[in-house]
Amino acid sequence: MTALSPVETYLQDFHRRQPGATTTAFAPHRARSPVAEYASSYAALAACVPESTGPLTVLDLACGDGHLLKLLRNGQGPALKLIGVDMSQGELDVARAALPADVVLLKERAQELSIETGSVDCVLSHMALMLMDDIERVIGEIRRVLRPRGQFATIVGRSFLLGEAKEVLLSVLLPILREDATSLHFGDARTRSAQGWTGLLERDFDNPQFEDLDIAWEPLPDELWGSLAETYDVDRLSASAKARLKKRFIEALADIQQSDGTIRTGWGVRLIRAQAKS
Ligand SMILES: C[S@@+](CC[C@H](N)C(=O)[O-])C[C@H]1O[C@@H](n2cnc3c(N)ncnc32)[C@H](O)[C@@H]1O
Repeated sequence: MTALSPVETYLQDFHRRQPGATTTAFAPHRARSPVAEYASSYAALAACVPESTGPLTVLDLACGDGHLLKLLRNGQGPALKLIGVDMSQGELDVARAALPADVVLLKERAQELSIETGSVDCVLSHMALMLMDDIERVIGEIRRVLRPRGQFATIVGRSFLLGEAKEVLLSVLLPILREDATSLHFGDARTRSAQGWTGLLERDFDNPQFEDLDIAWEPLPDELWGSLAETYDVDRLSASAKARLKKRFIEALADIQQSDGTIRTGWGVRLIRAQAKS
C-alpha cells in the first residue's frame, strides 16, 4: 500500500480502536426520504442492488465491519458474489468473523484497487467517500472496476445532527475545537453537496440521482453524548477538552429536552446513485 496521508493514518488508528462504531450509530435506525422509507441507511443501499436471476458481483467500498455485506448476503443470498474493501485491519477482522468464507475481503485503499477492470456489477459505499483523499481517483477506480452500465450507489453525510441539537452542539463544540484539536481536513468539499457530486460524476457516469434521507433518533442526553464521543472530531480532543465538552453539552441540552427527557434529533445523509457510462 502507498504511504498513508495524515487523515488515513488517523482513520486507521480510530477504526483499530473502535471497529463497528458506524454500524452502532446507523444500523438501528430507520431512514426516511420524501419518497421512501428504509429499515436503515444500509438497507437503502442494499435496495439499490438490482434483483437478478443470474449471479451479480457487488463491491462494498470501505466496508468497515461488514454490516452491509451481511445484509446483502441475508437478502439476496448466494446469487451475489460479494467483495468488501477497507484499509482498516481492525474493521476487516470484525467483518471476517461475521461473514461467510465466500465473501472476499481485501485490505486496500479505494484509490488503488486490485480488482479486475469491468468485473463488478454494482459498487456500494456507506458513509466513507466523504472522508477520502483524492476523490477523483477513487471515482475513477469505481468506474474502472464497474462493467459498462454498472450501478454505483453511495450514502454520504449531509447534516451531522438534525434539529435544534445541531445548533446546541456547534455552540459548545466549536470554541473547544478551536482551542484543542489538531487540525485534520477530511475528504473533498465536493462530496458535501449534490452540485459537487454532479461535477464529480459527469465524466464517467450517467443519470445521477439524489435522495436526502433523515435518520430520526430520540436519545437521552447520555446516549447522544455516547454517540458523539465516537465521532472523529470529538475522538481527537484531549481528555480534559472532552470532559469540558461533555459537561457543557449535557447542560445545554436541558433547554431542548422533551417531556420524557429525550432529544429529538438524528443524522442527515444523502443517497447518490448513478450508472457507469458504456
Ligand atoms: C465511517 S466508516 C464506515 C464503515 C462502513 N462502510 C459502515 O458504514 O459501517 C469509514 C470506513 O472507511 C474506511 N476508509 C476510509 N478511507 C479509505 C480508503 N481510502 N480506502 C479504503 N477504506 C477507507 C475506513 O477504514 C472505515 O472503515
